Amino acid sequence: MRKHTLAVTAAFSILALSACGSGDTTDSTGAAGAGAGDGADMRLALNQTEEHPSFIALDNFGTRLSEETDGRYSIEVYPNEELGAQAEALQYVGDGSVDMGIVSGTQLENLNDDFAAFNMPGAFDSVEHQMNVIHDEEIVGELYASLEESNNVTILGGFTQGTRSIYSDAPVETPGDLAGLKIRVQESPLHIGMIEAMGGSATPMAFGEVYTALQSGVLDGAENNEVSYFTQKHFEVAPFYSRTNHLVGLDYLIINTDVLNGMSEEDRQAFLDGWTATHEEHTELWAAATEQAITDAEAGGATFVEVDAAAFSEALSTLQDEFLTTDSQKALFEASRSAAN
Ligand code: GCU
Repeated sequence: MRKHTLAVTAAFSILALSACGSGDTTDSTGAAGAGAGDGADMRLALNQTEEHPSFIALDNFGTRLSEETDGRYSIEVYPNEELGAQAEALQYVGDGSVDMGIVSGTQLENLNDDFAAFNMPGAFDSVEHQMNVIHDEEIVGELYASLEESNNVTILGGFTQGTRSIYSDAPVETPGDLAGLKIRVQESPLHIGMIEAMGGSATPMAFGEVYTALQSGVLDGAENNEVSYFTQKHFEVAPFYSRTNHLVGLDYLIINTDVLNGMSEEDRQAFLDGWTATHEEHTELWAAATEQAITDAEAGGATFVEVDAAAFSEALSTLQDEFLTTDSQKALFEASRSAAN
């Protein structure tokens, strides 16, 4: 029911937006998206709430970009999956009905399995390590351009998702505690394999459906960072957050390639500089947001549980061999590992 409503809302929003958007939805190349130099207000799809650091940093990005380009470009951030869940948002950015979006690495893994290297538990030791790797042109240059021809999508870099852990309505201290539990995962073969390896039964599902599924018992649990655990109110329906810390997750900023290429050199530079300031701001906000989310979730009745960390890392130890099988996947993973410390 909720899924249906969301899909209808998203379709309606897009129709409404293209109806009220002026000539800026088609540029001189005939490509859809915001045109260059005509006061283009770029639409950005996000699946988080307005309290989330990603919304805050991106909203500030829009304000700064507008100032820097004398109003030639601005960004309107649509939160809460208003423009669709991430799988749809990715398609819309490609076809130009939406200009930009934040999508999890798991979505990109479905278009190019090289992205699995960075969705792998153990790829990153910390947020700092992750941000260094994913903004290192030498490591990611080819990867980020890899969807331009096939999907008309350019990747610009990313935001951390912080450390992800499992939550449910009972503590999970060992892999054995996950036996028989249906745990929501993002739509990725690797993450399905990850939850199975940890001892649970994986159910792939869009982010916005998780609360209702936990509430109704379709799911027994899910896995995410503390910030989403609190801002999505999942703590209300899954009050035990068990610190499996199985992964430092990663979101990417994507843009329609024609929109990016349609910018004048000056505007494009302002845009790219603005984005650098934006992911730096996000990283600064992240640690405090995580602490605040823990405090707020605890005040709302959540319990944070320590786990048998060695047992979980042992359970995950064969995942790399199983899921990183190509030379390019292995090279990306190794490049990340070499950049640690
Ligand atoms: C995090 C991440 C989102 C992702 C979500 C999920 O909140 O920031 O981009 O969609 O996890 O688990 O689906």
